[in-house]
Amino acid sequence: MSAAVLEVSDLTLRFGGLTSLDKVSLRHERGEVLAVIGPNGAGKTSLFNCLTGVYTPQEGTVTFHPDGGTDTAVLGRKPFQVNKLGIARTFQNIRLFNALTAVENVKIGIESHQKTGPIGAMLRLPRTRREERASDDEAFRLLEFVGLKARANQVAASLPYGDQRRLEIARALGTKPQLLCLDEPAAGTNPAEKRQLETLIRDISETGVSVLLIEHDMKLVMSVAANVVVLNFGQVIAAGTPQQIQRDPKVVEAYLGGGESDDAATTPPAKKVPPRKTSLKKPED
Ligand SMILES: Nc1ncnc2c1ncn2[C@@H]1O[C@H](COP(=O)(O)OP(=O)(O)O)[C@@H](O)[C@H]1O
Ligand SMILES: [Mg+2]
Repeated sequence: MSAAVLEVSDLTLRFGGLTSLDKVSLRHERGEVLAVIGPNGAGKTSLFNCLTGVYTPQEGTVTFHPDGGTDTAVLGRKPFQVNKLGIARTFQNIRLFNALTAVENVKIGIESHQKTGPIGAMLRLPRTRREERASDDEAFRLLEFVGLKARANQVAASLPYGDQRRLEIARALGTKPQLLCLDEPAAGTNPAEKRQLETLIRDISETGVSVLLIEHDMKLVMSVAANVVVLNFGQVIAAGTPQQIQRDPKVVEAYLGGGESDDAATTPPAKKVPPRKTSLKKPED
């Protein structure tokens, strides 16, 4: 059995003349938090879309190594099939069922993996009732795990933004993934919510779930990720520990080489150019 949970090899994705991903390779060790960082438009979400069956890249392979199962090619499968393999994701723009309550949202994740079909549900077979009780219990357990038990019966749309982010994570966990892909989970959250998220990602990792994390907040990346892959214009320009990445001149250039200014940046640019969205400097430095 491989020590990797996921191996991506020479992934190339093109949209007409635009190359979104250019021979991207990475290896995600089982149980570890691996961060994918890079400026806006670098190809991070495109990578997630390839890993989860949303896009089919023109070239490359993606191999999932489920714990105790056989190695499986991911490409060519539909999103729900990839999810059944044990890979779940959240979205850069939150996707919840806004009119449903928190607990109903989580149950949708859980029940997508249960055996009962519409006929069983209509006839209320004994197995259906057992599964429904189990899914209630599991949904409340997951809400407690992400810190939302007290909000179980509130409709998703009424929850504060950070709670919606954590609810989406709970729903993804409901599908019992071995690999959880989080696309900018801290985007739009306040500092207190970011700290909750940091703790949650560590807690998830401690349960044995491998976490692939796209994130702009460098403090969060530095504090939770064992390794980091840096994308720029669709290419992997660096990979290593957070400390190695921080010192890599190619990474510093990619982040500080131009672009929009943002007050989140705390590292002064090497050249006289406006800083980009993200700082590579540990805030505590
Ligand atoms: N469905 C699509 N059609 C055309 N271009 C796309 C599509 N999805 C992504 N792209 C392009 O791929 C590039 C990478 O985008 P994306 O993966 O969203 O970057 P990131 O998540 O790193 O900000 C961008 O230039 C984007 O416009
Ligand atoms: Mg993105």
